[in-house]
Amino acid sequence: MSKPSGSSKPAPWRHLLDSHLKQTPDWEFTIATVAYDAQQRPVPRLRTCGCRGFFPEHDLHPKGQEAMDQQVKGGGNLPVFESDMLCFTTDARMEKLSQLESSGHAIEAVFWLKDLMTQWRIKGTAYAIGDPKRENEQQEKSSRAEIMKSLRVKGGNGQDVEGWTWENAVTKYFANHSPVARGWFRNPPPGKPRVTVPSESGLGLGKKVTDLNDPVARANFRVVVIKPEEVERLDLTNQEDGKRWSWNLTGGGCDGDAEWNQTELWP
Ligand SMILES: Cc1cc2nc3c(=O)[nH]c(=O)nc-3n(C[C@H](O)[C@H](O)[C@H](O)COP(=O)(O)O)c2cc1C
Repeated sequence: MSKPSGSSKPAPWRHLLDSHLKQTPDWEFTIATVAYDAQQRPVPRLRTCGCRGFFPEHDLHPKGQEAMDQQVKGGGNLPVFESDMLCFTTDARMEKLSQLESSGHAIEAVFWLKDLMTQWRIKGTAYAIGDPKRENEQQEKSSRAEIMKSLRVKGGNGQDVEGWTWENAVTKYFANHSPVARGWFRNPPPGKPRVTVPSESGLGLGKKVTDLNDPVARANFRVVVIKPEEVERLDLTNQEDGKRWSWNLTGGGCDGDAEWNQTELWP
């Protein structure tokens, strides 16, 4: 496994966004990608997704941990890594993944946290991991390499990173779905006309999946990790004096030199 080369310290906006999310019951965000229409014009595509927090850390609900303890050696990875990268899970058959591939991985995520009167925008690139069949080995490898560059070893260098695996990291996100939600990854092909009968066996609505390595569901399950390059916070608490800040990643694209520049903007 290659070593992380990301910045040694958390991004300056991370603690505030984290604390805002912890004060918010639902973690849905809007995810924008770029598609190309029939005339090859770039067009925006947006949808709601459930934010799964900063990769690869997330607290499993007790049933998910029980499944990890029973089905994964050692109950999964030790908590050795942290990052500034938010993530969400998706189905490889949905359109957003091919849109990421054809647009240089461009993504923007937006939260409107109404209780805090705050909008957060996270602009950057995103990479999907979790292809168990390695149908596109190169894609999985380069996604892992990109993400690895921005991981930090928690609490210094003394941690045992050798035992950490990408497979266990993805399995933990799968385990955090209920058996019904894991079954969505065995649905007939998302977005295709309902009259078409799926040709692949094992697909159907309403399946409950308890096996964390269910081959049909796992073939479709992916974790998408967002590498932020620009983060913006708009605070409308005082409507007469709105506040807006942006943080831009600098460092010539080399993650080891990553530095964030903060600028206060007119709202
Ligand atoms: C509340 C809510 C949460 C959702 N969460 C996710 C999610 O975490 N991941 C996902 O891929 N789709 C999620 N969806 C479905 C997407 O909005 C969208 O319909 C689906 O991803 C297909 O989009 P695409 O074909 O453009 O990729 C969610 C929808 C809603 C309404």
